[in-house]
Amino acid sequence: MRIDILTILPELLESPFAHSIIKRAVEKKLVTIVIHNIRDYSTNKHRQVDDYAFGGGAGMVMAIEPIYNLIEKLKGERNYDEIIFLTPDGPRFNQHMANRLSTKENIIILCGHYKGVDQRVRDHLISMEVSIGDYVLTGGELAAAVVTDCIVRLIPGAISDETSALSDSFQDFLLAPPVYTRPANFMGWKVPEILLKGNHNDIEEWRHNEAMEKTKKLRPGLLEGKTE
Ligand code: 6GU
Repeated sequence: MRIDILTILPELLESPFAHSIIKRAVEKKLVTIVIHNIRDYSTNKHRQVDDYAFGGGAGMVMAIEPIYNLIEKLKGERNYDEIIFLTPDGPRFNQHMANRLSTKENIIILCGHYKGVDQRVRDHLISMEVSIGDYVLTGGELAAAVVTDCIVRLIPGAISDETSALSDSFQDFLLAPPVYTRPANFMGWKVPEILLKGNHNDIEEWRHNEAMEKTKKLRPGLLEGKTE
């Protein structure tokens, strides 16, 4: 898989993919993540990427030209399955979208900024919009890190224990059960007895019950398939 991320703040995206599971997925060539600076595609002598809004009003707007130049260049090199615009007014990102996107070959992620991008980018250049939640970030970069992380860890081979991604919270509309490690007794706070006994069937049953109870208590809607 290849993920191209288009941003005006490439520095913000250096660290998120340079550690742990995502780093290893990149090293194993399960995924190629390429960060592009939109500013490099500005034809303006000041390398400007934004401009005043037509009709007035506060805030700058990301211009279509450099974004178009960059997307056209990439589309000339390979076919893209999805061109995603990250924006707080898009449909909310969820595990289902992550699963679907993890099966794609090439995707572009465009990070929004300022007051927004010229509407013609949204109308003509992108294939889907995504928000990561009902709050406003200064830009789409942190959202791109979230979305990319979610997708990459689902690529087969990214997580060593193959079953691990499948038992995630949300994957089956159940929150994950609690987990414990040594010591079995920390200052009187004890690990549930059943986990120490080693009967696999009992442990699986306990985990399923815990997952059900936790979901009923914290996210009852999930049990009816509502991920909101
Ligand atoms: Cl994708 N972008 C920004 N700027 N803010 C957000 C978001 C995206 N998702 C939630 N808030």
